[in-house]
Amino acid sequence: MTGRVVLVTGGMGGIGTAICRRLAAAQGNVVAANCLPGYDRKDEWLAGLRAEGFHNIHAAEGDVADYDSATAMVSHVEASIGPVDILINNAGIVRDNVLRKMSVGEWLSVIDTNLNATFNVTRNVVEGMSERGWGRIVNLSSVNGQRGQFGQTNYSAAKAGMHGFAMALAQEVVKKGVTVNSVSPGYVATEMLRSMRPDVLEKIIAGIPMGRLATPEEIASLVAYLVSEEAGYITGANIAINGGMYMS
Ligand code: CAA
Ligand code: NAP
Repeated sequence: MTGRVVLVTGGMGGIGTAICRRLAAAQGNVVAANCLPGYDRKDEWLAGLRAEGFHNIHAAEGDVADYDSATAMVSHVEASIGPVDILINNAGIVRDNVLRKMSVGEWLSVIDTNLNATFNVTRNVVEGMSERGWGRIVNLSSVNGQRGQFGQTNYSAAKAGMHGFAMALAQEVVKKGVTVNSVSPGYVATEMLRSMRPDVLEKIIAGIPMGRLATPEEIASLVAYLVSEEAGYITGANIAINGGMYMS
């Protein structure tokens, strides 16, 4: 996995930052970290990574929930860095609510940002990967897409959909040197969990067999393996990384 152009959507978030660091550490890789247009902490984020020695990470602004914005973002990355070899569909949001109280906005924003974004970005890179005969696509799904979660009909549907997408696309590109996989983390210590009621989160952590949250670095390590040369025989898989929360 060296000398590759990497695009990480939502790359400046908790798991995204760990993935950017991990993939930028491989020799010759250049990483585009996507963020929303006008993200106010973009420069601070980039400066922090530069200070750690990562001069091969660049920002790529674009709203991946919007097809035209995602298309423009990929065009910009390809023109300024090069064709995308590795895509990590990582951008995501939660808008938890029980279905009887869920607004259309809560439903659509979660489907757009998690599932439709996966189409919006992948659609723009998969043909190039196939033509060049090599590519890696990894979707950040979730344990809650595998087992469902109370208060998350929108998110569970979107995350299950992301893996359905991966299995279907994996078949379309299996002979082109392109692999498509999902990872399904359990609860990871990032900003995303801040939206949760502390008492609900506490109960969930108490129920995790390993007794703790995952770290973003643990997720990044699995992603790094899936995009490596050695993982070339893995496609259409959904790898669980959940501390024993859900076994299948
Ligand atoms: N199973 C069965 N019943 C449940 C339940 C469960 N898991 N959770 C709550 N209930 C019951 C409650 O006991 C309560 O019953 P009573 O009315 O008899 O008292 C009733 O359902 C209503 O529960 P709440 O008070 O919790 O409902 P609410 O409307 O106040 O809250 C909610 C709804 C905010 C969605 C809340 O249920 C919740 O936070 N759920 C967890 C959502 C979650 O896990 N989010 C993770 C976000 S991060 C993420 O998703 C990352 C990832 O990929 C892992
Ligand atoms: P996070 O820290 O909130 O990061 C998510 C990132 O996505 C943020 O940087 C966010 O930007 C960005 N984003 C949101 N909407 C976007 C859009 N339309 N276009 C571009 N970027 C957008 O959360 P995280 O925990 O790292 O989550 C990363 C992925 O892992 C998500 O897909 C999530 O569903 C999945 N996941 C997380 C957990 C967990 O427990 N944390 C578990 C399983 C799976 P802003 O901050 O500017 O909005």
